[in-house]
Amino acid sequence: MYKINDNYLKLPGSYLFSTIGKKVAAYSAEHPEKQIIRLGIGDVTQPLAPAIIEALHKAVDEMAHAETFHGYAPDLGYEFLRNAIAKHDFQSRGADISADEIFVSDGAKCDSGNIQEIFSTDNKIAVCDPVYPVYVDSNVMAGRTGSYDPKTETWSDVIYMPCTAENGFAPELPKETPDLIYLCFPNNPTGSTITKAQLQEWVDYANKVGAVIIYDAAYEAYISEEGVPHTIYECEGARTCAIELRSFSKNAGFTGVRLGCTVVPRDLKCKEVSLHALWARRHGTKYNGAPYIVQKAGEAVYSPAGRAQLKEQVAYYMNNAKTILNGLKDAGYTVSGGVNAPYIWLKTPENMNSWEFFDYLLEHAGVVGTPGSGFGPSGEGYFRLTAFGSYENTVAALDRIRQL
Ligand code: MLT
Repeated sequence: MYKINDNYLKLPGSYLFSTIGKKVAAYSAEHPEKQIIRLGIGDVTQPLAPAIIEALHKAVDEMAHAETFHGYAPDLGYEFLRNAIAKHDFQSRGADISADEIFVSDGAKCDSGNIQEIFSTDNKIAVCDPVYPVYVDSNVMAGRTGSYDPKTETWSDVIYMPCTAENGFAPELPKETPDLIYLCFPNNPTGSTITKAQLQEWVDYANKVGAVIIYDAAYEAYISEEGVPHTIYECEGARTCAIELRSFSKNAGFTGVRLGCTVVPRDLKCKEVSLHALWARRHGTKYNGAPYIVQKAGEAVYSPAGRAQLKEQVAYYMNNAKTILNGLKDAGYTVSGGVNAPYIWLKTPENMNSWEFFDYLLEHAGVVGTPGSGFGPSGEGYFRLTAFGSYENTVAALDRIRQL
């Protein structure tokens, strides 16, 4: 009789955003008259920018002719896109990353779940608490996390780094030495950031203890303040200790188009073994590349027109963030985030727990958000709202919340 990967059985419940989706669908079916405003999952709502649409149309037309048709994409992505990423996202910021260190993919969620495969299951991971659930769940599936304690909602072999109001939602160096450190800044879910000097401490620490930082920079386009790093490779020494995950979902609205990339510097080595070579081997074996038309759309993100249009799109969402932040403050809530990130993190009122507040908000305001406890135990008593709704819905949601 065959056996399953019973690590999957250890996973408590379903994926956070699937659970929320099911709850909201059930509520809508029971109350079809209610107009629900969704500020839960960080999914974009604005149409693709004109420069991107134009590139997509052009690429589709190319596929209609034998002379310009494209079959399988190169394993690691088309050079036109890897060159554009290297130039605009890294070299222009003084970060020493070359095109051949960039692996194009269909998004950062998959890469953040898959990257753990190139590491031994003996490695110990450290995660921020609260944290994007994919980092932990994918390590559970691999059998790297020990056993789950439902009381504390923690895994025995995971190092948790609490990010709380007391430490400004920034993790402190852990007491126990990890092998793999997951960091995401600007942060999902708290919307916090750290300075370049703080990130440099992490890079120095990882190099000292021989750990790898898996740095998720999916929200870097939302940074508005000086001194906040856009890539970990702005820090000295990051080439020998860091992998960076990048997404086109939030900076260019590609949640439904799917495009991302992972950077693995050639200097990143475990003794003599190059992690770049391992990830290239994995990519070549298990992946056939993002579609040509999507990579052409990705290239348009970096064109002068694309860059100007996307700057406006990011500003649109950040105006929503400001509306939420100020609206909640006026209504007496304790809030943070929303300045360098499209997420607003609020303390639930009247000691409600995160799921109680989720139900309360849905029932009384018809607004969907994300319970903080879904991201980890330190998220309990908190709630996340996203700035990715339309402006009209964001204003309406805040009006409803003010009237509670
Ligand atoms: C979120 O809401 O946390 C994100 O949209 C999830 C994701 O990007 O996969």
